[in-house]
Amino acid sequence: MLRFLKARPSQFVCSLLLVITTGISGAVFAVPQCTPVKLQCEHLGNPIGIDNVHPRFSWQLQDTRPGAKQLAYQIVVSTDSIALDQANTWQSGKINSDVTLVTYAGKPLQPQTRYYWKIFVWDKDGVKSSSTTHAFETGMMQAENWKGAWISDNDDINLKPAAYFRKEVNLSKKIKFARAYVAAAGLFELSINGRRFGDHYLDPMYTRFDRRTLYVVHDVTASLQQGKNAIGMLMGNGWYNHQSTAVWFFDKAPWRGRPTFCMDIKITFEDGSTETISSGKDWKTSLSPVIFNSIYTAEHYDARLEQQGWDSPGFNDSKWKDVIYRAAPSTNIVSQMMYPVKHIEEIPTAHLNKLNDTTYVFDLGRNIAGVSHITVQGEAGTIISLRHAERLNENGHVDQSNIDVHYRPKDNTDPFQTDIFILSGKGEESFEPRFNYKGFQYVEVTSSKPVTLSQQSLKGYFMHSAVPAIGSVSTSNQMMNKLWWATNNSYLSNLFGYPTDCPQREKNGWTGDAHIASETGLYNFDGITVYEKWLADHRDEQQPNGTLPSIIPTGGWGYEWGNGPDWTSTIAIIPWNIYMFYGDEKLLHDCYDNIKRYVDRITAVSPTGLTTWGLGDWVPVKSQSPVELTSSVYYFVDATILAKAAKLFNKTEDFDTYSKLAEKIKNAFNSKYLNKQTGIYGKGTQTEMSAPLHWGLAPAELKAKIAANLAERVKLDSFHLDVGLLGTKTILNALSENGYADAAYKIAAQENFPSWGWWIVNGATTLYENWPIDAKSDISRNHIMFGEIGAWMYKGLGGIFPDESKPGFKNVLLQPNFVDGLDSFSATHDAPGGRITSSWKKNRNEVAYNVVVPANTTATLALDLINKALYNDGKMVSSTDKAVRAIGKTEKGLSRYSLTAGNYNFVIK
Ligand code: BGC
Repeated sequence: MLRFLKARPSQFVCSLLLVITTGISGAVFAVPQCTPVKLQCEHLGNPIGIDNVHPRFSWQLQDTRPGAKQLAYQIVVSTDSIALDQANTWQSGKINSDVTLVTYAGKPLQPQTRYYWKIFVWDKDGVKSSSTTHAFETGMMQAENWKGAWISDNDDINLKPAAYFRKEVNLSKKIKFARAYVAAAGLFELSINGRRFGDHYLDPMYTRFDRRTLYVVHDVTASLQQGKNAIGMLMGNGWYNHQSTAVWFFDKAPWRGRPTFCMDIKITFEDGSTETISSGKDWKTSLSPVIFNSIYTAEHYDARLEQQGWDSPGFNDSKWKDVIYRAAPSTNIVSQMMYPVKHIEEIPTAHLNKLNDTTYVFDLGRNIAGVSHITVQGEAGTIISLRHAERLNENGHVDQSNIDVHYRPKDNTDPFQTDIFILSGKGEESFEPRFNYKGFQYVEVTSSKPVTLSQQSLKGYFMHSAVPAIGSVSTSNQMMNKLWWATNNSYLSNLFGYPTDCPQREKNGWTGDAHIASETGLYNFDGITVYEKWLADHRDEQQPNGTLPSIIPTGGWGYEWGNGPDWTSTIAIIPWNIYMFYGDEKLLHDCYDNIKRYVDRITAVSPTGLTTWGLGDWVPVKSQSPVELTSSVYYFVDATILAKAAKLFNKTEDFDTYSKLAEKIKNAFNSKYLNKQTGIYGKGTQTEMSAPLHWGLAPAELKAKIAANLAERVKLDSFHLDVGLLGTKTILNALSENGYADAAYKIAAQENFPSWGWWIVNGATTLYENWPIDAKSDISRNHIMFGEIGAWMYKGLGGIFPDESKPGFKNVLLQPNFVDGLDSFSATHDAPGGRITSSWKKNRNEVAYNVVVPANTTATLALDLINKALYNDGKMVSSTDKAVRAIGKTEKGLSRYSLTAGNYNFVIK
């Protein structure tokens, strides 16, 4: 307030009344120039079903003025939307702080309750403004709040058809609002009064069902009616009842069971009274036309078995069976607080090849994860098979040989990635699977009797967790643009409530692939909710001795193989990256003990400081690097993250212990692998050299020498990759972070083998699993594991980095590289504070560099300015300027500048 009064009158008028609007009444009012926007609770907008007793609230400032910032905030929470300002639940009071992420600290939240909230902020001039009203709603919060029973049909786990469930109810009063709380083991589709509810698919997400069972909350107000209502459920197997057989033995998972659910639909009437419709013995069940469903392989549907009106009031269910009570799958029933899986993009067929009148091959023109949707007309009983694949044989038929290799079918009744649709014969009919998705570009449709199909008969839906896009990259190199797009396609194809390796052959939560791709994910997509859920899966799977399995979740496979630090360091790396990108320490805090147990486990099996536990530089181009080298690097990374987390959480003793451990690993590592005379690690392969450089094991005094040797190595390799999975993470970064961005770009933009670009110029729309396109093994065409290239574009070209000392991009580190061979580059990233832009264009001897630093954010810019200077608005930037100020040099001799919020059009000449 003091600051506010101190402002000069002209300043005051200018900031408060810059925009003056005339209201309908003719009254003149001021529109504040700083408004809190993008209000989120638990990183979601207006969520329903919050179980966290201390939910997190966040917001952004909409304020484009130079130097915009928040001096103070106030949060109010109330159950009363009208009297919100009186805040009957939480009134934070005015807090002098620029934070925009706070944890709830009001009265204990009540279950199944709607809360309204608002943020007030005081802008850089002390002017107060308010957000609009937002809401969040709590979920069950505690197991005892469930009224429903866990029910199921009484069938065997090996029975193939999926079950329907139904119940009718009469609601005598006018409905004000209604919520459906649905917990399930297996997958469900909820129907109300004859219609499938909502746009979620494959709910609930996959978890270790016997340790964590998710429930989903829907606002079903508009679907219910006064009078007669019917509620229907169709239950699919998902990962809970895995009937298909493959090398990971999900069919033997300890949790396996016939799908089951528990539901409460709570209705609040206009008169304030409530009623709950619950799952119980008064439900009936019957088998459905879904005669087989496997999340792994496909779905089979016999339209002749459809029961018209099964989910509508008045249906005769006298032939349906009674349900049975079932034990809850776990005692941990948790709200699914994340972006759901949806049909995100409809992909029309790009090309149709009719091989004969019973065989058609549809080509979507791009590789996706998702489902196909067919519309067809034919005689009753005609069997339509839809075989999905990523490749074609020379004879024009689809080729599954690159993706069916780990499948171990017991017979021919469950063909791989092949939906089966049996026609009812009642005119045009359509099918798409409900409880399965696939990875594919081509669909070979065969029919038991001739059918006529056109290009319009089949389309695809690209499916994935509906995480909002928060990044963009655009360059003057079209191949790089396509590569960025393909990387995102693979990232999203591998995001179904947990990150997977590939959407076809495995659908496994391979840990190594996921931590390597996590920055690519976080620069491009708002993925925190998915990662928080997946790290909870990690905590569920960790053995008491600290060991984690290589795939998460797992039915038991993976504790024996593939789970060394190079893969399962997800437990440390992902929470750390979330902290860096969101400035939110909750996940790191939640995982702290798990990281510690994991690091202690590595120490227990590898007391020397070096460890051979791991798979190594998976799928390398040619050179193999020692497993001990790469695994020890990750052991170091984990110990370092743990030490930093210990410091953050004031655990002094741990900080001391794990800092020393990190030092011990580093010393052991450098003694064994670094030739201090030559500055070469091991045999000097790209991975051996780049991993210690990038991950901070290289001694400071030798860094320049090692980097020069690495640059020499890649020159000898004619700027082509010679790395596997672990090396893809480090090769470009180690170069661009150590003064060799031009070399990094040459590798990144390479268009002949071996390179990312080689795939792209050969038509790839996703990333591959192996470098040669015609490799004989490890040849999925939709793997995200080599996906670090997507993050590197932001870092190595745009130079956008989070700052460890002010995480969540509160201070943005900007270090763009105007690399040889590229004329222009532009990246944006929507950080918690708002959109960051780093965009450059070369014009003869100058570079035009546009930077946007969002409100309430600062930036530190570092530029290599040999014989050049930085100009802002035509003036050379000096150490006395206000918005952008020269602040000396970095260790590596780059010129540094400190920037306040604003839009800068620099010229470097
Ligand atoms: C997966 C990889 C994974 C690897 C581990 C493969 O089968 O598809 O992406 O990381 O196994 O070795």
